[in-house]
Amino acid sequence: MAAPRQPLVVVGHGVAGLSAALAAAPAPVLLVNRARHGEGGASLLAQGGIAAALAPGDSTAAHARDTIAAGAGHNDRDAVLRLTAAAPAAIAWLQAQGVAFDQDARGGLALGREGGHGVARIVHAGGDRSGARVTAALLARARAAAHIQWREQVDADALLLRAGAVVGVRLRDAAGRCEPVEAGAVVLATGGLGALFAHTTNPAASAGSGLALALAAGARVRDLEFVQFHPTALRADADGATLPLITEALRGAGARLRDHRGQLLMAFHPLADLAPRDIVARTVWQAQRKGPVWLDASALAPGWEAGFPTVLAACRAQGIDPRSQPIPVTPAAHFHMGGIAVDADGASSLPGLYAVGEVACNGVHGANRLASNSLLEGVVCGRRTGQVAAQRARASTPSGAATRLCERGPDLGDAERTALRDLLWRAAGPVRTGEGLRQAQVALRTLADSGWEARLATALLEAALRRPGSLGAHWREADAAPAGVAPVVGLRAGADAPRRAALEKA
Ligand code: SIN
Repeated sequence: MAAPRQPLVVVGHGVAGLSAALAAAPAPVLLVNRARHGEGGASLLAQGGIAAALAPGDSTAAHARDTIAAGAGHNDRDAVLRLTAAAPAAIAWLQAQGVAFDQDARGGLALGREGGHGVARIVHAGGDRSGARVTAALLARARAAAHIQWREQVDADALLLRAGAVVGVRLRDAAGRCEPVEAGAVVLATGGLGALFAHTTNPAASAGSGLALALAAGARVRDLEFVQFHPTALRADADGATLPLITEALRGAGARLRDHRGQLLMAFHPLADLAPRDIVARTVWQAQRKGPVWLDASALAPGWEAGFPTVLAACRAQGIDPRSQPIPVTPAAHFHMGGIAVDADGASSLPGLYAVGEVACNGVHGANRLASNSLLEGVVCGRRTGQVAAQRARASTPSGAATRLCERGPDLGDAERTALRDLLWRAAGPVRTGEGLRQAQVALRTLADSGWEARLATALLEAALRRPGSLGAHWREADAAPAGVAPVVGLRAGADAPRRAALEKA
């Protein structure tokens, strides 16, 4: 009699994890998550939509060029071509799953524009509620799928390894009870690490738990130094919590950044407020040294707020009416381009371990992700990884060798986590210096034995120190031109050549 099939374990229920779990059918999947399903992940907060070359005159090649220009040429070109070519079909697949994308007056898909895109090519659902709408549709499909079993409110806190292969996870429930689960393969879809920074648009759960697990097991990681800072989080008194995002789509609709004197902040750049995100974030960071920075939506057509219900609610919660008042903004950690090194199928360096979405790095985003390419990656790569991992999943795990437990380790205490978040923000934020990175490394040594977050932060600092020059979102101040001069935000020879070419075309 054939051995019963080991399930594919998918850890994480954001867009990438749900896409992987759905695509694995008919292979059995165990979908596990730390929060309740449908709560807590970064996908839910995504306001920007999904980029796809759908407009007449647009092309997947142009989408690829913009992706590489935004990524400062550090992208894996084949990965970019695959992603952008798959984007129109991904939109159609999401529609088939029940996502109702916003329509224009003629009943076609309404296409918006965001930073770094040469044309309007972003679809949204429910205005700035895109992430929540897409997640809800996939969650409903997954709940109805017979091949998916659910485990909520459990933490996959260790990987099981046998004969060098990942053969399962250990699940820990809220009461601390542990249960080893053997798996045909494990897919990590646990999101990024933005919550390790004092200012972030990420939920608290996006602190790099999956990446830390992979590091503990010895999986190869890459590009850890590349953390994207969003230029326009709402400068709110968030008491250590997530800062509300003011979506880039608002700048796409015409909102403009202004400095403390009311001057247009991005006027120096050919793409103005829609320059690549890292450039805008650094400009805001530098302008904030002189005074507060504001996003001015006063020139938008009356009624604009109907397309931005999340922005309106976030501003109102702070006592701001964005229809008549400028919005105070600040950069905040938003997306990790680095992560577990994976190939085109999402396979990591450890047999049996796959990763997808923000926890993974397949090179597609380069040194700075293009706006609205992250939900796209979650869907396209999630589906591919789900299919491949299901096909390759072992019917039975290797026997004979001893099972090794690779634990992520204890969490930092609250006070230590706050100290670490402040430290990373100051040392590894939008503008870094070698001295600041080294000092942070020393400061972290005292915490490194206390919690996995400190070990992960140390790996990030080490990666940042190994790259002495500036590239994309990794900006070393010593390498920058003097403040006040336009190139301070970064168009130089060499790695920035793709950007220069794209901008010259624009
Ligand atoms: C935004 O809405 O500004 C963020 C979109 C993204 O992260 O791509």
